[in-house]
Amino acid sequence: MAAKIIRGSEIAQQIRVDLKRETALLKERGVVPGLVTILVGQNPASMSYVAGKQRTAHELGFHSVQDNQPETISEALLLERILQYNRDPRIHGILVQLPLPPHISEQNILYAIDPGKDVDGFHPFNVGKLMIGQADFLPCTPAGIQQLLLRSGVPIDGAEVVVVGRSNIVGKPIANMLLQKGDGANATVTVCHTGTRDIGFHTRRADILIAAVGRPMAITVDMVKQGAVVIDVGVNRQGFTPEGKAKLCGDVDYEAVRQKAGAITPVPGGVGPMTITMLMANTVKAARMAAG
Ligand code: GUN
Repeated sequence: MAAKIIRGSEIAQQIRVDLKRETALLKERGVVPGLVTILVGQNPASMSYVAGKQRTAHELGFHSVQDNQPETISEALLLERILQYNRDPRIHGILVQLPLPPHISEQNILYAIDPGKDVDGFHPFNVGKLMIGQADFLPCTPAGIQQLLLRSGVPIDGAEVVVVGRSNIVGKPIANMLLQKGDGANATVTVCHTGTRDIGFHTRRADILIAAVGRPMAITVDMVKQGAVVIDVGVNRQGFTPEGKAKLCGDVDYEAVRQKAGAITPVPGGVGPMTITMLMANTVKAARMAAG
């Protein structure tokens, strides 16, 4: 039987209705959630991501600021701008789109963001809180994946979860979140990476398989257990549509795997819309925390 399709775009829409209502309630208390997205340079993928974040912030009624900086901006000047947003009471969330140009240290920039405004959840203070199960801000893509699983009724407690990819943005945090004790977690988690000898050996055991590799066709049908839940985090650009838009595909051989899996997320329309929505949820939370 073909897999159930987990439609992130629909689940994201439901969450956005709640966020819009909460934003309106905060406004009645005189607080407008404020989000700044900082983009350095003109990487087309980053420009498209940031535009999506700004459009959604605007739709929800946020105070939203797009700060575009040239590729040549110095690290010192970028740090200066971040400190300025740290002090700005209208801004509750600061997002610096990654990757940054090679002359700027990502670490120095992420360390400079006020942890209370770190809606990406990338500051080491927030990474540490996540490790001990006390996160204020869950990183957006992992938080989106967890919500997709929960809202699709996928049992996580006791499940064998296999994550392929160990990035700081997706692989490490989702593994950490799902192994925590408590609701929406309590799984047995394995993380595969470029040093793993036989990735298929692990993935074939997975009740929940999370692919965050960054390569088309990295997960083929022989690597998936019958009835498994497959979450495809990949956003790979492969050519163009007839309208000239970038054509996206995930890390999973979707057409073959959906014949075998129990449930699967499509690309686009799976994890992507959830990532943006969780950024908005974190911004509303930051505004609520600031409002006291
Ligand atoms: N680049 C790719 N994904 C992300 C993300 O979630 N946040 C930021 N800031 N940059 C990214």
